[in-house]
Amino acid sequence: MKIGFIGLGNMAKAIIEGLLLKKVILPADIIVHSAHASNYQPYAEKFSLKTAETNLAVAEQADVLILAVKPELKEEVLTEVKPALIQHKVALLSLLTGVTLAGLTEVVGSTFALVRVMPNLNVRIGVGVTAIAGNNVATESAMATTQSLFEQIGEVIRLPEADFSTFVALAGSAPAFAYLFMDALAHAGVKYGLSKNQALKIVSQMVVGSAQLIQQSGEAPWNLIDQVSSPGGTTIAGVLALQEAGFEPAITKAVDATIKKDLGE
Ligand SMILES: NC(=O)c1ccc[n+]([C@@H]2O[C@H](COP(=O)([O-])OP(=O)(O)OC[C@H]3O[C@@H](n4cnc5c(N)ncnc54)[C@H](OP(=O)(O)O)[C@@H]3O)[C@@H](O)[C@H]2O)c1
Repeated sequence: MKIGFIGLGNMAKAIIEGLLLKKVILPADIIVHSAHASNYQPYAEKFSLKTAETNLAVAEQADVLILAVKPELKEEVLTEVKPALIQHKVALLSLLTGVTLAGLTEVVGSTFALVRVMPNLNVRIGVGVTAIAGNNVATESAMATTQSLFEQIGEVIRLPEADFSTFVALAGSAPAFAYLFMDALAHAGVKYGLSKNQALKIVSQMVVGSAQLIQQSGEAPWNLIDQVSSPGGTTIAGVLALQEAGFEPAITKAVDATIKKDLGE
């Protein structure tokens, strides 16, 4: 299967590097093109990928075409590749945040299988979480191909498109929220004499372990909070201080703002 990438920014590179890391696709089966040859040529050379000189040429060679440009380029790029979609029946996967299947259909028409794919940056190391939704022309085979491709680099969830904005907040953008939390915790460690490196090592391992404990035990976070909160102890003092400082409303506000932006409000 040949996979074409239109756009070679952070997300396309994360997907490519995740797939190559898992050795599920040969570098020569990945075809890339982006706005600047000075970007895509050296990257393709580094990973032994194929390059194409235009977006249309990518689409002509690909079985699966991944659209990985900024959302505002939707019209320009889709108009360019539409002849290949017509001729070769390429499966089109769009990563474009905030661009609905209906918005894609407006440009390419309603006869093509379109799959909206919303990965997060963690696909780069094979532990991403990706939501997918297809239009009504997307066959089960197109959905299954998309699912099995992204399952190589993390979990895949088939989600109604109406829930994509929520997914963007909880999975696409939330790594940044988690990094903010981790950096704040590490910073506080520095306040009490740890080096930033030491503090970050401690904090990141704590976050990995805490997430794995939830996944592996199936226990709800509040049960685990209760388990680490001894009566009159240190943890409950910290938990209550966080609550008093508005931790949960702050998270909700971040999610509200992300969804609002995704919906273009
Ligand atoms: N980053 C995330 O966490 C994330 C998560 C989910 C979805 N997304 C979506 O994924 C898409 C890509 O995001 P990103 O963060 O990877 O963006 P990015 O880093 O800004 O990359 C955009 C890419 O588009 C290329 N490009 C610009 N004009 C082009 C054209 N006319 N034809 C072909 N390529 C063109 C750029 O080329 P040059 O590099 O050559 O200039 C660049 O490689 C966006 O729609 C975003 O909403 C991102």
